[in-house]
Amino acid sequence: MSIWIVDFGSQYTQLITRKMRELGYASEIITLDDAIERFQKNLKPSALVLSGGPQSVFEDKTDYTIFFKDSSLPILGVCYGMQIMGQFFGGVVEKGVVGEYGPAKVHSLNDFNIEGCPATHDVWMSHSDHVSKLPVGFTKVLESENGLCAAIVHESKPILGLQFHPEVQHTVHGSDILRHFLVKIAKLQSDWNGDAMIKSCLDVVSRARGKKVLCAFSGGVDSLVAAMLSHQVLGNDLFCFFVDNGLLRPQDLHHIKLLKEKTPLKIEIIDAKNIFLTNLKDVADPEEKRKIIGRTFIEVFEEKVKSYALDHDIHFDFLLQGTLYPDVIESLSPHKKGGKSSTIKSHHNVGGLPERMKLQLLEPLRFLFKDEVRAMGEELGLLRDWVWRHPFPGPGIGVRVLGKVDEASVQKVQQSDQILFEELKLSQLYQSTWQAFTVLLPVKTVGVKGDGRVYEEVIALRMVNSQDGMTATVTEMPWRVLEKISVRICNEVKGVTRVVYDLTPKPPGTIEWE
Ligand code: XMP
Repeated sequence: MSIWIVDFGSQYTQLITRKMRELGYASEIITLDDAIERFQKNLKPSALVLSGGPQSVFEDKTDYTIFFKDSSLPILGVCYGMQIMGQFFGGVVEKGVVGEYGPAKVHSLNDFNIEGCPATHDVWMSHSDHVSKLPVGFTKVLESENGLCAAIVHESKPILGLQFHPEVQHTVHGSDILRHFLVKIAKLQSDWNGDAMIKSCLDVVSRARGKKVLCAFSGGVDSLVAAMLSHQVLGNDLFCFFVDNGLLRPQDLHHIKLLKEKTPLKIEIIDAKNIFLTNLKDVADPEEKRKIIGRTFIEVFEEKVKSYALDHDIHFDFLLQGTLYPDVIESLSPHKKGGKSSTIKSHHNVGGLPERMKLQLLEPLRFLFKDEVRAMGEELGLLRDWVWRHPFPGPGIGVRVLGKVDEASVQKVQQSDQILFEELKLSQLYQSTWQAFTVLLPVKTVGVKGDGRVYEEVIALRMVNSQDGMTATVTEMPWRVLEKISVRICNEVKGVTRVVYDLTPKPPGTIEWE
């Protein structure tokens, strides 16, 4: 049984799940419609969390009775979630004259005490409406500097409401507050650790035992951990196909060859360079390029699957994918209330192969965050270098040559990326950034090389720190390292005379340039 976190659309909802898992409690995000449906089917969580959200209770016509029927169910309301509770239990929610946004201080009332947390502490607020009259049966336990109600607890039921966001880093004692809810109010036993994680993933794989399973293998940490874990159940029935789309960096092919040699996985490298470059010819639009690359992957896989059936009488039943939880959350149905809708870029490797291939999806990591997958990789005994590799997108260099893609441009990115990689490794800074790569810009600038004027292309360096790619900050690289990379690229990569460093965090910029 896990904790259900009902997503009302706050940008921080994922963080609640992460924090709860870090504290050792299984939790998942669900839409409001799914939560109501599950309650109607008499399914029950170990605790219910109502997240924050951009709406206002004045416009919300939902009947929440089903959530509050069972008086023993532990419930945590965060921000908007607290206002829903406040209104349901007969309190008054008022539109704020001034909102509280950003850092704030709150102090305890009525002897409210949280282990590890002082009586006055810093929190992160993001609201304009607030609970102005206490709901029936509740006590105010935290108040903000502005005198607004910041937290309420029920006198006899296991219910806590927080007007601020305990999941956000700026709420200094956020983990203590969540632990207080889980341990003292909900009285739950911790149930999420390395063993539980591996067991839940192996359970997923066990439905494919004895069947033939195809893995779209990229060699990145997700597909590697998914494959290694599945191999424990599937053995020789697992076939890993790695597509060489011609849009890879030299280190990627080297890595795959190493995995082929050092792991028990059956990995086949499919050379599809020409098909990809031909299909991409003269296409400049980023979305169009992504779609073509995605489609071509599917064509290549379909051909391979057919040839296995014809030549080896091997028929695949399942497709193993390293899909992670953030992708699952992103794709929660936009038609369901509380589901997320924005697709910023089409990620080709989410969604899988066409139905006509009649492959069932096997996604053992679909409930895990990247840091959990890495922890599991280490627990499975994989080398640190493999587990901590930088992410590399499925469309590869195809989205790092801006505009039209041809072999010469791909080579410029391959060479500059290799220089970046070598220098980061040499200066032992590879692990100090989450992802580092180079991009070829579709502009030419004037320069001087030797005694002559040149008119040549520009390479951008992109290095970011992030936890899961959802948000990112720019990595602070030592100047001498940046300078050396720049000098080497201008000297060694033919046709490039200028190197720039991208200083844009995400948001507003995405990590990839296309
Ligand atoms: P963006 O550019 O959306 O990227 O900020 C976030 C993270 O996702 C990676 N990325 C992809 N990964 N297939 C992938 O497997 C894709 O189509 C794709 N597009 C972006 C990106 O490298 C970054 O780590």
